[in-house]
Amino acid sequence: MHYFGYKKGVLHCENVSIIDIVKEVGTPVYIYSSKTIKRHYKVFSDSFKEVPVIICYSVKANSNIAILALLKSLGAGADVVSGGELKRALRAGISPQKIVFSGVGKTEEEIEMGLKAEILMFNVESLEELQVLGEIAKKLKKVASFALRVNPNVDSKTHPYIATGLSQSKFGIPEDLIIEAYKISFQNPYLKGIGLDVHIGSQLTSVEPFIEAIKRLKKLWKELVNLGFELKYLDIGGGLGIVYGSEEPPLPQEYAEAIIKEIKDLGAILILEPGRVIVGNAGILVTKVLYTKTNWGRNFVIVDAGMNDLIRPALYQAYHKIVPVEEKLDQEEIVDVVGPVCESGDFFARERKIPSLRRGDLIAIMSAGAYSFVMSSNYNSRPRPAEVLVEGEDFYLIRRRETIEDLLALESIPHGWNSSGI
Ligand code: LLP
Repeated sequence: MHYFGYKKGVLHCENVSIIDIVKEVGTPVYIYSSKTIKRHYKVFSDSFKEVPVIICYSVKANSNIAILALLKSLGAGADVVSGGELKRALRAGISPQKIVFSGVGKTEEEIEMGLKAEILMFNVESLEELQVLGEIAKKLKKVASFALRVNPNVDSKTHPYIATGLSQSKFGIPEDLIIEAYKISFQNPYLKGIGLDVHIGSQLTSVEPFIEAIKRLKKLWKELVNLGFELKYLDIGGGLGIVYGSEEPPLPQEYAEAIIKEIKDLGAILILEPGRVIVGNAGILVTKVLYTKTNWGRNFVIVDAGMNDLIRPALYQAYHKIVPVEEKLDQEEIVDVVGPVCESGDFFARERKIPSLRRGDLIAIMSAGAYSFVMSSNYNSRPRPAEVLVEGEDFYLIRRRETIEDLLALESIPHGWNSSGI
């Protein structure tokens, strides 16, 4: 369910015409619907009402500080994976006591940042990291609360690049080392083990793998409690899939029901790290048709957004629905929708049947609220798009379009070189 739809033949986000936004902001532009985000957050959090829960929105999905501030106003915490994300979450006013710090490669500086901010806990992913966390905590004289991220060797049946719970993946600590790690942590009074964590992958379309992973964690949880450890938080990560095309993921209520049934008797505070399910269908990327052409019988629509702006189709062969901004009810054509970047992987759709397009037409690439702007780059020296947030009748520029000067601002030619002509 989202708030993008046609009104009098023109695509709107809530009550704002996409054409009006483009007139002011230009293309390519990411447009997000605050009503959709609010709705998704509410449906998700209401589903877990029955149990004590902290919803730590996964900042990596969409980290614009306006989006984070919006989620904060709804009561969300944050799951962060870098110093940058931590800073964003704090800047948006998210309480440190609702922030968990995940990731396999936290630097010493990042650990220090987390400790100084007094975040809820670090999700530790290796024995060495635990050691380093303990040393830094001791140095700063701050107790580091942590959960161990378990690698449960569960197949999440998603795209291999976004499956994270398998034995061959770099994530987490294997089950059989968890108890040992907890015991080691006990020797350092600055380390305080308070939970277990798992995240098995993203865009999952069934509940079974989640439940399988939770079952493994439950077993470890009970063993640790029997050994005298005082566990409090069970963090089961994110991963619930959304509808891009023909997927049929479980509803948040179904997902919640299965999880609650499984964890009820543990007496744990549940931590969830949803990302995509909150913002994925709350955003679109609007781009303008630059040219159309037919090469050896194949039709190409060349648009002004490229793989640098939205890399999911190129990287994961991901499907994103594409619709014209001005409703066209006439002819359809089979086309490749491609960007201007000098790579054959620079496409948004291949052999897709869509309404015939002409130079100057606007199209919307749907479901671009998660892992879209955040994964953009400046490849081909292309400034990144603007981001706009819509609320009812109003829209706000929440990130201005980059300029070419922005791109050059960080670079310099070594002093003394002859740079004639600049
Ligand atoms: N927690 C952890 C530790 C994660 O690594 C992730 C996502 C999440 C939570 C949130 O997962 P979600 O609820 O959004 O599925 N770039 C890929 C997705 C990568 C996901 C990385 N981790 C894509 O565009 O599909």
